[in-house]
Amino acid sequence: PATTKPAAPTAKPAGDTQKPAAGADKPAAAAKGVRTVEIIGTEDMKFSLATITAKPGEQLRVRLVVKGSMPKIAMAHNFVLLTKKASPVDYVTAAMQARPDFLPADKKADVIAATGLAGAGETVEVTFKVPAVAGDYTYLCSFPGHFQAGMKGTLTVK
Ligand code: CU
Repeated sequence: PATTKPAAPTAKPAGDTQKPAAGADKPAAAAKGVRTVEIIGTEDMKFSLATITAKPGEQLRVRLVVKGSMPKIAMAHNFVLLTKKASPVDYVTAAMQARPDFLPADKKADVIAATGLAGAGETVEVTFKVPAVAGDYTYLCSFPGHFQAGMKGTLTVK
């Protein structure tokens, strides 16, 4: 009688449930809870991060740490995240007149999230829900002149 060969063991797992979720390329992002992104604001009027990537609907905390030695009246920073519809130039133009915090009340609808102003040695933060709509959102410092000097960045939601 012919010898029966043992059946080859199945190497492949049954089913395809092991696939990573689409777009799961960032293991750093915690699945639950709030993720903190720290940005440093400096006297050369730049954010240390010019780009932030986030997932739609993610809870994000942006912490702005301000370094320098100039008095706050002359040099302070904030973080203002604008909607896609908002015009950053229009926003900062209105902000110039909006002392003391440079967050113009009549442009509140343009803002997704904003911190208060921080001077050298101070830290401010804001926690917010990232928009559900994918795309690029501008963030900026609305202290007069800083946006024009390049104090801005892009939050990419994807
Ligand atoms: Cu600034």
